[in-house]
Amino acid sequence: MERYIIKGGNPLVGEVEISGAKNAALGILAASIMTDETVTIYNLPDVSDVKVLLQAIQGIGAHVEYLDRHTVRINGSNISELSLDYEYIKKIRASYYLLGALLGKYKKAEVPLPGGCNIGTRPIDQHLKGFRALGADVRIEYGSISTSATRLTGTHLYFDVVSVGATINVMMAAAMAEGTTILENAAKEPHIVDLANFLNSMGANIKGAGTDVIRIKGVSRLHRTEYTVIPDQIEAGTFMFAAAATKGDVTVKNVIPKHLEALSSKLIEMGCQVEESDDAVRVYCKNKLRNTHIKTLPYPGFPTDMQPQISVTLALANGTSIVTESIFENRFRYVDELTKMGARIKVEGNTAIITGADHLSGAIVSSPDLRAGAALVIAGLAAEGYTVVEDIVYIQRGYERFEEKLQSLGAEIEKVSTEKEIYKFQLKSNAS
Ligand code: UD1
Repeated sequence: MERYIIKGGNPLVGEVEISGAKNAALGILAASIMTDETVTIYNLPDVSDVKVLLQAIQGIGAHVEYLDRHTVRINGSNISELSLDYEYIKKIRASYYLLGALLGKYKKAEVPLPGGCNIGTRPIDQHLKGFRALGADVRIEYGSISTSATRLTGTHLYFDVVSVGATINVMMAAAMAEGTTILENAAKEPHIVDLANFLNSMGANIKGAGTDVIRIKGVSRLHRTEYTVIPDQIEAGTFMFAAAATKGDVTVKNVIPKHLEALSSKLIEMGCQVEESDDAVRVYCKNKLRNTHIKTLPYPGFPTDMQPQISVTLALANGTSIVTESIFENRFRYVDELTKMGARIKVEGNTAIITGADHLSGAIVSSPDLRAGAALVIAGLAAEGYTVVEDIVYIQRGYERFEEKLQSLGAEIEKVSTEKEIYKFQLKSNAS
């Protein structure tokens, strides 16, 4: 089992190149099978979630060819299977985007129900409501969602909750429906805009993505395209808060600063300096951090995917901070791990009350999920002594070469598999 061993205490300093956005890539890869022509996608992050979705796409008969680690060519003209195997959905929930993509293109799709996950129950009622509104018959039978339609017709739909996944799934199906669909109370995340731009580059007619009303004029066919995925704002944010927690000076490069505004403004409130340029953001923090209060919200609010990283940083700030998680109910599972490192956090319902500590100290901790895992790495980088982060398989789902990028900023971190390797790391870092 791979783990990270970290010797904390070094401020992170330098520049780091941010990869393509995982969550944008997942929507775009699913949508790429909606044409019979060849699609080339650049700037894919080299992370396990992307690899699994590509396997799922191959599994239904599409042709997938890697041109390099970050570029893939997909041709969906020979899709033979409109039903997805459980093994994919078990590994990555977002393979349910194939539901909207296949329904739009073939008017038929079957995907096993994804169920809950480590961060919450995760219902999909809004996805199904959208497919039904487009005229599809949707059944849940034998643990799967089966959906089919003789024709999909445009509709006026009001989402009851703001959902990234439902907006993506329904937008894909509606892109190939007959007539106009209006989605109200749609999610506004940058990856919704990226997917709409991608579909438009294939000949779709989608307007308003990035606002809460999306207008989609259905088209009967989509065509070939070449497309570059946007940078990952959560990966960028993770490095920005790692800079803050370690009192470092880090420039995240290849980013869209506008996507990072909710994070930048919190860092400024906490006493860091943030400098933006065209495609980079520099964060440097020299003094003791100040407390602040956060409530996670849909974009452009503070992202739930950054809640663990800011909480770890606040665990080292002056004063008391209140963090309210309003999106997923199980997103404080890392708190017990962080407490082992000396953090003073009390969770009541969906709120964490964080009293800043002078320092954290290294411990053996385990990642409960992807973003919490990254947050525990930040804690290890800021802590005194050695930290072992277990279950890093979660981190590898969404962070490309995480330890290498951190090493390039001066972090002492290594991926290890055995006790012997941990011992060797400790000997080496004690000697230096
Ligand atoms: C996506 C992101 C995830 C991020 C989340 C919120 C991807 C692959 N994943 O997840 O990283 O944390 O957005 O920004 O992009 N809900 C319903 N009914 C539904 C759908 C959702 O009640 O049919 C609720 C959920 O329980 C949750 C809220 O809506 O409370 C938001 O969920 P949603 O935006 O759908 O998250 P995901 O798309 O699953």
